[in-house]
Amino acid sequence: MWPLAVGVRVPSLAPRTAAPPKEPGARLVFGGRSPDVACFASVSNARDPLREVGRPVFAVLGDPVAHSLSPAMHEAGLRAWGRPGVYVALRVLAEDFATAAAGAFALGLAGLNVTVPHKARALAVAVDASEAARAIGAANTLVRGERGWVAHNTDADGFVAGLGELGIRHVDRVVVLGGGGAARAVVWGLLARGVAGQVTWISRRPSALPAWAGVAARGWSELSGCLPGSDLLVDATSVGMEGGPTAYPIDPDPAVLAPGAAVVDLSYGRHPSALLRRARAAGRRTQDGRAMLLHQGVRAQALWWGDEVPARVVDAMRRALEM
Ligand SMILES: NC(=O)c1ccc[n+]([C@@H]2O[C@H](COP(=O)([O-])OP(=O)(O)OC[C@H]3O[C@@H](n4cnc5c(N)ncnc54)[C@H](OP(=O)(O)O)[C@@H]3O)[C@@H](O)[C@H]2O)c1
Repeated sequence: MWPLAVGVRVPSLAPRTAAPPKEPGARLVFGGRSPDVACFASVSNARDPLREVGRPVFAVLGDPVAHSLSPAMHEAGLRAWGRPGVYVALRVLAEDFATAAAGAFALGLAGLNVTVPHKARALAVAVDASEAARAIGAANTLVRGERGWVAHNTDADGFVAGLGELGIRHVDRVVVLGGGGAARAVVWGLLARGVAGQVTWISRRPSALPAWAGVAARGWSELSGCLPGSDLLVDATSVGMEGGPTAYPIDPDPAVLAPGAAVVDLSYGRHPSALLRRARAAGRRTQDGRAMLLHQGVRAQALWWGDEVPARVVDAMRRALEM
C-alpha cells in the first residue's frame, strides 16, 4: 500500500524537508514536496507507535493554538534526547474535539497535549484517568492506552515545579485569580502537594468553585481585603491571553503583598504582563507562564516515553522557551 502524503506546516523544521520515508507498515505520512511542508513523519496504527516505524507524531490540540510554544519546546527536547519525533500544533474546534481525539488515536499519534478550551473534554473522551486529572476535572496530556487515550494532568505538578524555581517550597497564604481549568490545576497542586497553608480563590462566580478543604472561595469585590500580607499571588485568569479579555474586574495591587512575596502569571508572551510589570515595580519576585509550561511539558514527555527525562533535555526545552 502506498502511504498517503499529508502536508503539515512546521516552520521550525524547515531545514529538514526531504522525500517521504518509505518504511514498511506506514499508514500515513505527514509531509510532502511543497516548500511549505517541512517535515515527514510516519504514523502507523500499530499498538505502540513510539517503537514502530519512522518518527512518532505528537500534537497539541487547542483553539487558538497558533501562538503555542509547545512545538518548539518539545521538538528541542526530542532532538536533545536523540529520540525521533515530530510535534505539531493542530487547531480543533470545540464541536470536533471528540472526533479529532478518536481520529488521532486511530491514526497512531504517539501522544497528545490538550489546551484551551478542550481540557475538560479531554478527560471526558479518555478511557481512564490519573488521580490528578480526575480531581481537577481536566486533562492536558493524553497517553496511549490499550483501548484508547488515558488522561493525565501535568499542569498541577508543572506549576509546583515552576514555584521551585522561585525557591518556593511552602508558603502560608496564597491568592489565586480565576476559576478555569488552569486555576483548578494550580489550586489542587498547591494543596495536594502541601505547598500552601491556605488558598483564597477569587472568581467572578465563587459559588461555582469546587469546595476543597483549605480553600476560601471569594468574589472579586473581596480581593483588596485578601491580598495584604499574602505570600504568593497567582493569576490564572485568561486576562492578557492572546484573543482573551484585557481587564480584570478590579486591578490587583502587588504592592500590598507580604515583603518577599512572589507573583506568578500563567500567561506568557513577548513582553511581561501588566501585572508582572507592576509586581516588579513593587519589588516583588515574578514568574510568567513559561516555567509551568516547561515543567508540565517535561512531565508529558516522561509519560509518553515511560522514561525519566534527562536534565540535558530539560535544559534544551528551557532554551527553546528563551528562559
Ligand atoms: N503556562 C502554562 O503552562 C499554562 C497552562 C494552562 C493555562 N495557562 C494560561 O492560564 C490562563 C487560563 O487558562 P485556562 O485554561 O484556565 O482558561 P479557562 O478555562 O478559559 O479559564 C479562564 C478563567 O479566567 C477567568 N476570567 C476570564 N475573563 C476574566 C476577566 N475579565 N476578569 C477576571 N477573570 C476572568 C474566568 O474565571 P471565572 O469565570 O471563575 O471568573 C475563566 O474561567 C490562560 O492565560 C492560559 O494561557 C498557562
